[in-house]
Amino acid sequence: MTDKRNNYNVDVLIPAEDIRKKVSEVGAQISKDYAGKSILIIAVLNGSFIFCADLVRSLDLECKVDFISVGSYIGAQTQGKVKVVSGIKEDIIGRDVIIVEDVVDRGFTLDFLIKEMSLKKPKSIKTCVFLNKKRAREKEVAVDYSCFEVGNDFVVGYGLDYNGFFRQLPYVGKIKESV
Ligand code: IMP
Ligand code: MG
Repeated sequence: MTDKRNNYNVDVLIPAEDIRKKVSEVGAQISKDYAGKSILIIAVLNGSFIFCADLVRSLDLECKVDFISVGSYIGAQTQGKVKVVSGIKEDIIGRDVIIVEDVVDRGFTLDFLIKEMSLKKPKSIKTCVFLNKKRAREKEVAVDYSCFEVGNDFVVGYGLDYNGFFRQLPYVGKIKESV
């Protein structure tokens, strides 16, 4: 199946229906693991906005949602260096925190975020990613919940972008070289 929006051909790798099912399963698992607790979800912008919106609606838990925006330093010498562009507003001290991210690839972003958030003394901190690119890892990082394991291919849709585009696709797909 292909999609010709934005004049690109996109091969569908994970259909919307599979995503819907899996995200609600992960939501149910989190609800079970944190039963009776109140959690703080920290969603990493921009990529996780759609995943987070679906995930929180599948939770049967008391929760707050906050957002953090991170970026990478530009420059050959600083590859893998991450910085906070816009921080969270909620207090983390003593909270059960779950960081929600679109994809863990080399692992730099999530590793940075876990360390950064841990400094603020949460009660616990876990990670929930939509896509897990296991084979691409350069930094070992704890992934507590993940929806799908994928290969090294660059993918778009369901929040994930290519140069800012394709986030709105309801499925995950791979851009074809030729149109
Ligand atoms: P890491 O720090 O290498 O784990 O990179 C993770 C970040 O790279 C994610 O938050 C995404 O923004 C971006 N990224 C990695 N792989 C993809 C992809 O296949 N599509 C879109 N963005 C990606
Ligand atoms: Mg991201």
